[in-house]
Amino acid sequence: MRFVDSSIVDSIRVFAPATVANVACGFDIFGFAVDNPGDQITLTISEEPGVRITDILGDEGRLPREASRNTAGISIQTYLKHINRTDLGLDILLHKQMPLGSGLGSSAASAVAGVFAVNELLGRPLPVIKLLPFAMEGERIACGSAHADNVGPSLLGGFVVVRSYQPLDVIRIDTPANLYCTLVHPDIEVNTKDARFILKNEVSLKNTITQMGNVAGLIAGLMTPDYDLISRSLVDVIIEPVRSILIPEFNEAKQAALDNGALGCSISGSGPSMFALSRDAQTAEQIGAAMQQAFLSVGITSEAYVSEINKQGPKVL
Ligand code: HSE
Repeated sequence: MRFVDSSIVDSIRVFAPATVANVACGFDIFGFAVDNPGDQITLTISEEPGVRITDILGDEGRLPREASRNTAGISIQTYLKHINRTDLGLDILLHKQMPLGSGLGSSAASAVAGVFAVNELLGRPLPVIKLLPFAMEGERIACGSAHADNVGPSLLGGFVVVRSYQPLDVIRIDTPANLYCTLVHPDIEVNTKDARFILKNEVSLKNTITQMGNVAGLIAGLMTPDYDLISRSLVDVIIEPVRSILIPEFNEAKQAALDNGALGCSISGSGPSMFALSRDAQTAEQIGAAMQQAFLSVGITSEAYVSEINKQGPKVL
């Protein structure tokens, strides 16, 4: 049996940020992190080998307590197997601080918090970028697909491009300093598995060309930076028209965002949350209020979050 180096701490608390996946035109390949909301995890070394979830706060008892069925638990287990430390005992206390099934990357934030915490707790045997495949395992059990457009930005911070899945090739893109994100989460739930199931498997050549133009334009716009180009490129002709039917008042909320100065607005991840980008905090707040009002006009309450693009990713608290 191996023991943990006594010079390192035996407990750690970590925050991992929520994320906006897809970012309109980049289905499964674009994502960025926000400062809030996010999940927290406390990981404590135990004498009893194995990974256990001692408690989950903020999920109203809905998430699996069995480590191998929980995104944080499975990510940690996969990581420990990889570094050959399945002898280790770890107790997980997960504090969910964002709604489930919201399109805010809730499962990804938990997975990232877990794998980042264990790597820090053990004195960082792996560089952060190498943690990505373990966090992706969390996504696989959460929604049946190991996509990286939530875990990538939650782990690395900033705006992330997943250029390829096989082999995994992830690139972090610079974003302008004054880019604000408004997130509005209407109080309804959309299951990611269902939101993936309704997508068509075939895409027309015309839509593919339009989407590729927007993908290229968005990256160029972010890197230049060129806000008008960002605005013109935040258009999704493939996924949004299908998924928006799952979000009541989608068109009205989007129009409210654009009327109030948004550079663009679309579905955050698989929804029902919607995101809008803008150039300053005040505009971002106004956009949030206008979108909330659109939902409220049909009796749907919502939460709004305003944040800059999170550049740091997970952090030890
Ligand atoms: N790219 C994924 C999807 C993100 O849209 O299904 C899920 O949050």
